[in-house]
Amino acid sequence: MQAKKLLLPLVTKTLNLNNRVVMAPMSRRRAVNGVPGPSTVQYFAQRASAGLIITDNTAVAANGIGYLQVPGIYNEEQKAGWKKVVDAVHAKGGKIFMQLVHAGRIGHPLNNEGNAPVVAPSAVQAEGVIRVPGDVHLPLPVPEALTTAGAKAMIEAHIQAAISAIEVGFDGVEIHGAHGFLPEQFLHPHTNRRTDEYGGSIANRSRFLLEIMEGVVAAIGKERTGIRLSPFAHINDLPPYEEEAATYTYLIDALQKLDILYIHLSALITNGQSSIPNSFLEDVRKQFNNLIILAGGHTAASAEALLQQDLVDLVAFGKPFIANPDLVERFRHNAELAIPNAETFYQGGDSGYIDYPAIYQLQSA
Ligand SMILES: Cc1cc2nc3c(=O)[nH]c(=O)nc-3n(C[C@H](O)[C@H](O)[C@H](O)COP(=O)(O)O)c2cc1C
Repeated sequence: MQAKKLLLPLVTKTLNLNNRVVMAPMSRRRAVNGVPGPSTVQYFAQRASAGLIITDNTAVAANGIGYLQVPGIYNEEQKAGWKKVVDAVHAKGGKIFMQLVHAGRIGHPLNNEGNAPVVAPSAVQAEGVIRVPGDVHLPLPVPEALTTAGAKAMIEAHIQAAISAIEVGFDGVEIHGAHGFLPEQFLHPHTNRRTDEYGGSIANRSRFLLEIMEGVVAAIGKERTGIRLSPFAHINDLPPYEEEAATYTYLIDALQKLDILYIHLSALITNGQSSIPNSFLEDVRKQFNNLIILAGGHTAASAEALLQQDLVDLVAFGKPFIANPDLVERFRHNAELAIPNAETFYQGGDSGYIDYPAIYQLQSA
């Protein structure tokens, strides 16, 4: 199928997107001390023909870094690094949002600045290992349970990070409520065993994420605020649970009341199946009036089909953007896509980062 709607502009009250192709957030782990360097500036500038770029997940606090060499947005040096990225993308007519994350229990003190202990809603350890300095893999640690005041401080860190992102020129932010990081650890009864206002009922488990969203909306505006969710994905050692669908219904209802710009659904694909049933997508469409982005295993043809059915407004592509900096132009010309090398997804250095060639020139905005 020829991509048609996928390449049409999308205009919102505050954003003019050149097309409906979103570059999905991808952690590429090339930052030194959390600061994106010149290669990151080049990497994003090369991909500026995406209708919207969403950055790597970026840490909101020194104790929420998670993986080695991920960028942050909690100090001035990091902000200055990001400003160069934003300016380069804007100079090429692109738009860019920052994905904000606190990794919670999916981290290690050795990866956190100042070896800060890993924190989470409750002291529930995740299975698995994580890479730490020296190319060693260690078991994920037992996290420290946040106090109520500690939870509020983490909410505040997200809000402050959103303010910083806007200060350096980002077009908006995406709160990472997906993939088993801190906000989803609060949502999920397996990782949230709390008895305070942030634990127990669906409303209480949702409170951490919703207070972040309310605070970010108040600080930077609803039209600059998005969220990523991964219902039914069950990664980072989160099992299925009984109230899962009801939890997301509650959450999406609250997000509609907040009138945020978008919900970005991340479908993790296994055996050709999406983690998100189509019926759920249809329900979200009815429940939420603003933009819906969907990510997970899409081609131009499958994205076009979703747009034609009016199930979503934008489609995000991850791996295809790694090896095809000119992905939008390749879609336009129905060109073959290069295959990325998974061995360089997360390793440092420029190889597999900024050396994938474009075959088409960027169309200027
Ligand atoms: C190298 C790599 C890093 C990723 N890092 C993130 C991330 O930082 N935040 C996030 O929400 N998703 C992350 N993802 C998931 C992608 O955003 C996307 O949802 C996923 O790759 C599925 O889309 P695709 O099939 O088009 O690649 C990552 C994926 C890859 C391949």
